[in-house]
Amino acid sequence: FFHTEIPEGLRRLPGPKPLPIIGNVLEVGSRPYLSLTAMSKRYGDVFQIQIGMRPVIVLSGNETIRQALIKQGEEFAGRPDLYSFRLINDGKSLAFSTDQAGVWRARRKLAYSALRSFSTLEGTTPEYSCMLEEHICKEGEYLIKQLNTVMKADGSFDPFHHIVISVANVICGMCFGRRYDHNDQELVSLVTLSDEFGQVVGSGNPADFIPALQFLPSTTMKRFMDINARFSQFVQKIVSEHYATYDKDNIRDITDSLIDHCEDRKLDENSNVQMSDEKIVGIVNDLFGAGFDTISTALSWSVMYLVAYPEIQERLYEELKDKVGLDRTPLLSDRPNLPFLEAFILELFRHSSFLPFTIPHCTTKDTSLNGYFIPKDTCVFINQWQVNHEPETWKDPSSFNPDRFLSADGTEVNRLEGEKVMVFGMGKRRCIGEVIARNEVYLFLAIIVQKLHFHTMPGEPLDMTPEYGLTMKHKRCHLRATMRMRNEQ
Ligand code: HEM
Repeated sequence: FFHTEIPEGLRRLPGPKPLPIIGNVLEVGSRPYLSLTAMSKRYGDVFQIQIGMRPVIVLSGNETIRQALIKQGEEFAGRPDLYSFRLINDGKSLAFSTDQAGVWRARRKLAYSALRSFSTLEGTTPEYSCMLEEHICKEGEYLIKQLNTVMKADGSFDPFHHIVISVANVICGMCFGRRYDHNDQELVSLVTLSDEFGQVVGSGNPADFIPALQFLPSTTMKRFMDINARFSQFVQKIVSEHYATYDKDNIRDITDSLIDHCEDRKLDENSNVQMSDEKIVGIVNDLFGAGFDTISTALSWSVMYLVAYPEIQERLYEELKDKVGLDRTPLLSDRPNLPFLEAFILELFRHSSFLPFTIPHCTTKDTSLNGYFIPKDTCVFINQWQVNHEPETWKDPSSFNPDRFLSADGTEVNRLEGEKVMVFGMGKRRCIGEVIARNEVYLFLAIIVQKLHFHTMPGEPLDMTPEYGLTMKHKRCHLRATMRMRNEQ
């Protein structure tokens, strides 16, 4: 790569000098979102590092990322062939595999339409506008009951542990038409031990770039493989049950609708993209995985911010009390009337940037960006954390201040400011669950803030340092919650 001929008129990429064998691994360190942001100040929006023997391009700055992922979308839409990606979903993941463009596009379209139809489907009672709302409201109520029970029994609770089960149940409802009890050991052990997944697939894991490391014993890697195997088994069992009870005239959930697609396709002789049934039904694996880890991480961070900023927690409660009241559960239709909650969520996404990099991209052909030459098959990291903390865009970026997204009188959200926050990626690979995610984070938060008051444990300082990964988590901790009392109403 370093000796590649640069076409005339284009420049060679800037970047730190790599060491033999390990490249820039030491400079990248254990918090790549900070080290690569610091490097962007020195080398600019497009620069090159080397991880092991492999060159990686790092993109920063809203405009540069927009140019690459939107204006030159096709050229930057690939996924790199990384060791850890091959272990996910038997190498057949929609989000992580190196599927050819045609196959990936067809799968993405299918996943998107299945998600859309099962989230917007009518609820079982007229009280709810859609299935998504019904699932979230019911799981929100269970969550509150569960936290109350745990508080009475233990005096404290682990926020991530309980939130992740509730969120997993919403996506289980849509994908598999079922929910699990908070004490169900199979689901609990699967979803609460998912930390290693994010740690291994986060941008810059040296084992992905230095082949020798793949052969060394590593507990994290072993657990990563174990999680993938257990995850596939869990989904496979449910998929087999669906095949056994599938009825064309009664499509119950996303799994059924994907099976149905396979059946229809067998009758369609004109179908031009060749895909195995496994690749189609396997989409549900991606939807389930992406659907619980991201949203539960967002909600768990939300609770940490509520506790860290009690005055903000009170303002959110007051807004709910004023605009929704305390006699009914908040609904999706209340969202436009709760600007402070909306601003809180935007600030949570920006400040935590808990998905600091998108999933790594890869160039699909020789290209150039900002005058620099980038060859085909180059791995590309997109630094979302840098976009969300750029001092030119954000005043005092390290302070947590939801008001930055509100109009001066506090009654409206400034949409243009909100659009500058980057957490769902951009362009062709942009997250397909964004609408569901934004609605789900909003509604769960509205429900819990209306009913519960969260506090720290006396004498236990709050540790907000993120642990690096694809989704960054806060350290597991214990908090307290009390029911909002009648006299507060
Ligand atoms: C991809 C963020 C929730 C499904 C992504 C990407 C990001 C992201 C950054 C990678 C974009 C890229 O590579 O450029 C988030 C955040 C969420 C969330 C912050 C919650 C707050 C969800 C949900 C689902 C979902 C609920 C589905 C139920 C997917 C899928 C992809 C993806 C399938 C892969 C798309 C592709 O490679 O073509 N998401 N996501 N996400 N997301 Fe999400």
